[in-house]
Order: sequence, then structure tokens, then C-alpha cells
Amino acid sequence: MTGRITGQLALAPARDPAHTGRVTRQALIIDCDPGVDDAVALMLAFGADEFELLAVTTVGGNVPVEKTARNARMLRQVAGLQKPGHDEAPVFMGAAQPLVRTLGTATDFHGPEGTGDLEPFEPDLPCADGHAADAIVDLVMSRPAKSVAMAVLGPMTNLALALRKEPALAERLGPVAVMGGARAEGGNITASAEFNIWADPEAAAEVLATGAEVVLFGLDATHQVRATEDRIAAVEALGTPMAKTAGAMLRFSQRVERTIVGWDASPLHDPCPVAWLLKPELFELKPCLVKVETESDLTRGHTAVEFRQAVAGEPLKHRWAVTADADGVFALIARSCG
Ligand code: RIB
Ligand code: CA
Repeated sequence: MTGRITGQLALAPARDPAHTGRVTRQALIIDCDPGVDDAVALMLAFGADEFELLAVTTVGGNVPVEKTARNARMLRQVAGLQKPGHDEAPVFMGAAQPLVRTLGTATDFHGPEGTGDLEPFEPDLPCADGHAADAIVDLVMSRPAKSVAMAVLGPMTNLALALRKEPALAERLGPVAVMGGARAEGGNITASAEFNIWADPEAAAEVLATGAEVVLFGLDATHQVRATEDRIAAVEALGTPMAKTAGAMLRFSQRVERTIVGWDASPLHDPCPVAWLLKPELFELKPCLVKVETESDLTRGHTAVEFRQAVAGEPLKHRWAVTADADGVFALIARSCG
């Protein structure tokens, strides 16, 4: 697909997710920087009735936070997740800048608006009141311990701010599934760092130093989840507004990857943490201890992933995804978008 998709995609009817027969749904907060792969991850989450999506919090990352917040609201509207009179999955705007550095964006890989080839539109509903970090604290601390999971799909600035505001959050949170880091695969924004960690290495270091139950889906795993032509075509063939949106984002990534990186199929990063929350068996995880380089300019944002307890010298409190079932991830995306 080469030309720009103009105009607003048809909107899905308001979703009224019926429970899937599960006794309880997983309460979830998604923190993201849409962003074309964030957009696919949001479609995956919006269409998964297993989640009680408490909030979408947005951060400056791929594009500035004003655009990531607009894009999250736009995608929620495409998915029909808002019904007249009330606003499901409220979108909160968060940090515009990393904790101590100046934001570096990734518009080459996401388009100037963060929406790939899609023309953005002004969504019907505004952002919810309040800062994303405050929303994270309020939503997690007001619910039973370990009952709220997070998927963090951009720089970890908002979560770091929330943990600074309320340190008890670390023990209160359920699993924190993070797209970030690189070990065996090397970096994507620099030779040794993955973008989300590189963008705010201090935030990542602070989050990882707490007792939060962090599961990292770095490039070692996400590079195994490739948007091949067949997989993109299968999503597009579903024909729904959500599928058309996800398909357009995947097409944009396919073109960019071929042009900039020379790969024929782009890795699909941000849906991986969300897919794990839905179907953990799609990924193999290893206990580890992850530390982040924050001093060196050359290796800023490098994730030092130690699997050896004897070498780590402290408990292996993190988990690192070492394998991913790409077909399984795409099957979940098709289920959500169909
Ligand atoms: O390195 C990939 C990550 O950086 C993804 O989250 C993508 O959206 C960008 O933010
Ligand atoms: Ca992202």
C-alpha cells in the first residue's frame, strides 16, 4: 500500500464487551506512546474482553505527548470503545519529557503524527483530567493488591513518576509487562540500546530497582514476531475498522522497515506484552536481573540482563522473554480486530 489513507476510517459500533465467561477480567492500565506498533497493541487490548481496561496513559516517546494522547483517543474511538454518556478506557496525558533528559522521538518509524499513513482526526472525547502518573497511583492503590496489571509500551517515565509519588505502588502492582531492552539482538536506536529504554534510561533504572514484578519483552523476543506479508494480509482481510487501522499501521511499518532497515518484515514490538497478559504460554521467560546504563553516551540505555544468580549478587527479580510464538500473537490480533 503506497498512497496515504485519507479521511477518517469508519468507526466501529460502540463495543459492549460481553464477558467471556470468565469470573473476573484482568484489570489493566496500558501506558504507551502511539506510535504504529502501540496502535496495534491497543487494538489487541481494546478487542480482548479478558481485560477490564482501567485507563490508557500516554507519554512522550515516538512523537510528543500531545500527539500520543490524541492518537490513543483516536484509536479508542475507531475501536468503538466509548458509548454516549460515558467514557471507557479514559485516556490520561502524562510526561512530555523524560525524567532528566530531552525527549528524542522516532518519527522516522511512526510518521510525523505517530499514525503512520493514517490522517489523524480530533477525537470526540478529550483526555481525562489529571496527570497519567496520578491516575496510575489512584487506580492501583484503590484496588486489591496485585489485582491491576500494567503494559508499558513506551519510555517508562510515567511509571517512574508514579513510583516516586507512591513507593508502595511497587508491591501493590500486579505484573508489569514492559516492551523494552535488548540483549542478544543488540539495539535498534543505537548499536546497544532499544528505543524505550534509550529514551528515558533513568526512568527504566528507577522502575527496575523497585520491587515491582517487571517482565521485559525486549528485542530478543519482539524480533521473533515479524509482520510478514501473509500476516498483514490476514489482518486486512478481516475488513473491520479495527482491522483496517491495524493493517494500515502494519503496512506503514513494512514500508519503513524495507526502506530504512532493509528487512522485508518488520518486528512487531508493543503487542508482545499485551499478548503475554492474554496468553502467557506464547512466550518463554527466564528469571534475571536487569540493570540499565545511564552514564555512557555510547551505551546509554543498554540493558545488562544477568541470568546467573551467582554473578548477579542479588535476587533475580525480573523476567526476560527469550522466545515468542509469532503465529499465536497474530492469532490474538486477528481475534481482537475481527
Ligand atoms: O523499540 C521499540 C519500541 O520503541 C516500541 O515501543 C515502539 O513503539 C517504540 O516506542
Ligand atoms: Ca511504543
